[in-house]
Amino acid sequence: MILDLLWRYRRNAAALRWYRVVYRLAYRLGLTVWQRPAPPADLVALVEGPAPLPSGRALDLGCGTGTDTIYMATHGWDVTAVDMVPKALAAARRNATAAGVAPRFIQGDVTRLDDLGVGGGYTLLMDFGCFHTLPEDRRPAYVAGISHAVTPGARLLLYGFSRPPKAAPMHAGVTVEEIQRRFRPAGWRLLGAERASAETLGIGVNRADTRFELWCYQLERLPADQSDGPRAL
Ligand SMILES: C[S@@+](CC[C@H](N)C(=O)[O-])C[C@H]1O[C@@H](n2cnc3c(N)ncnc32)[C@H](O)[C@@H]1O
Repeated sequence: MILDLLWRYRRNAAALRWYRVVYRLAYRLGLTVWQRPAPPADLVALVEGPAPLPSGRALDLGCGTGTDTIYMATHGWDVTAVDMVPKALAAARRNATAAGVAPRFIQGDVTRLDDLGVGGGYTLLMDFGCFHTLPEDRRPAYVAGISHAVTPGARLLLYGFSRPPKAAPMHAGVTVEEIQRRFRPAGWRLLGAERASAETLGIGVNRADTRFELWCYQLERLPADQSDGPRAL
């Protein structure tokens, strides 16, 4: 039992260190193919669409250089943004200053939100490409962490590949089945699951939409009495 726990701890720590190295290297070498000049249409719809969410607290998970953070902040949202790569956060801070907004940037691991002191009361969560590269063993902690941080009715937009690139240095992928399996027991309802087009998103990878099948999942946090399962994962 103890040996098993120790083994799992070592495997998690090793996986996260490896992912951190890959992302740090990508930012250092400028290989940030995921960077977009503008927020995705689904986020714009929630913020500025015909029935926009009332502005409140927003959390950008794996914010990178801050495109979506800054978009939400410039539209009246009180944004906290988390990323584990200092270089990405430095660029995000510069971009935010240039845009005249001051979101709260936190360097750390999105699977340890409680330790990072992100607080609670969030009503809008954005995850573009972060969850789908988390090590399998850290995904439950991510779901538990965000579930603590939100209010009932909060929305989560989560983008990920359903057909991960085979040559990628780390596993990247998430399917609708996994979304349902992990989020439903934690009190989330899937509102939508749609293939996203590379053109709409402006991703710098040629034909990323068809090659890797980028999907957008929209979820809503249910009130405690409507949840059909235990809260803690
Ligand atoms: C594909 S990039 C997307 C960045 C940004 N959301 C965007 O769309 O431009 C994924 C980001 O998640 C961050 N990330 C990955 N795993 C993380 C973790 N466990 N904790 C915090 N950040 C993480 C990476 O450093 C990277 O900036």
